[in-house]
Amino acid sequence: MAPALVETTTLVEYPSDRQLLQENGDHKEAFAQAARSTNYELELKGDEKHAAAKYPHYLPYWDDTKYPPYEPFEAVEPGKDADPAFPNLLAGDANVQELTGNIGATVTGVQLSKLNKAGKDELALFVAQKKVVAFRNQDFADLPIQEALDFAEYYGPSHIHPASGAPKGFPKIHLVHRSAADTTARDFFEHQTNSITWHTDVSYEMQPPGTTFLYLLDGPTAGGDTLFANQAEAYKRLSPEFQKRLHGLKAVHSGHEQAASALARGSIVRREPVSNEHPVVRTHPVTGEKALYVNPQFTRRIVGFKKEESDYLLKFLYDHIALGADFQARVKWEAGTVIVWDNRVTSHSAILDWKDGSRRHLARLTPRAERPFETPFEG
Ligand SMILES: [Fe+2]
Repeated sequence: MAPALVETTTLVEYPSDRQLLQENGDHKEAFAQAARSTNYELELKGDEKHAAAKYPHYLPYWDDTKYPPYEPFEAVEPGKDADPAFPNLLAGDANVQELTGNIGATVTGVQLSKLNKAGKDELALFVAQKKVVAFRNQDFADLPIQEALDFAEYYGPSHIHPASGAPKGFPKIHLVHRSAADTTARDFFEHQTNSITWHTDVSYEMQPPGTTFLYLLDGPTAGGDTLFANQAEAYKRLSPEFQKRLHGLKAVHSGHEQAASALARGSIVRREPVSNEHPVVRTHPVTGEKALYVNPQFTRRIVGFKKEESDYLLKFLYDHIALGADFQARVKWEAGTVIVWDNRVTSHSAILDWKDGSRRHLARLTPRAERPFETPFEG
């Protein structure tokens, strides 16, 4: 018999723990970082191809200090007291450019770190309405780190990420860092066709973040944009009958896969992983808007549904959000950009698309907010 064109083969190599984890469930680690994937020598000194890091005091270190579980706290909501005309936030030379018809804006002529109390309140409301706002020419990266943290803590107590690296002495800063000449992106695409990982940050916490800040320290000249989706608009697109069916449902959000993935790549877990049940539709405490609150990174199942039923519904919602380019914005980074989003009514994804080995380095300020809740269904 002639040999078959496609022959069966016997696997002699077993996948690594990391590959197994990637294939186990929806949790996907496109931006996995650890001390061993950080080239400190190149970051601190640079070489003929790459400049040294612009902000070396922001380089990540993985300090294995353990933190206790979070206790419930009463969240503040600065946006509740805000003047909806934004006279303090958008004073003087402030210029607002809408990014799309329903999500996102770019603002110039405002220095966030100089806002007065009323301006900070207005910022919370403005961001809740726009969902995501890129503020250009900001000084956050040049402030003493503690001052940037103090600014953010007006909105709530900082989250300490269980697995990410942090600047030495500042565990409340979450860093997104990819060293110059890093090859993990190339390695990642050996196994995956895209790097899109829609999620809301740390939704497994009982009180996940609300108004959230991410600022650029160093980045590629092109690429590394961030995608945002308006989850309130995603909810509004559903029929009243479908919205009614979602009302009252809860879903389990889990931090266990993220922790297991961190351990599998030789990284740290600073707080015992937790799972929490949150409403599938949550209500924003200031705008009253309802928004979908599920994401493939951390949501695992619908409470009370059988597995196939849960998978079916979640897949529909994930596809709905991922395909909704008409309620998404792609935000570009520039030196001095601070992107502020309301983590309660958006989801986002990093984009791993640059190939020139540029360093990408950002810092996140992550104030925690209220426990998600849903108001009655009004049709
Ligand atoms: Fe994120």
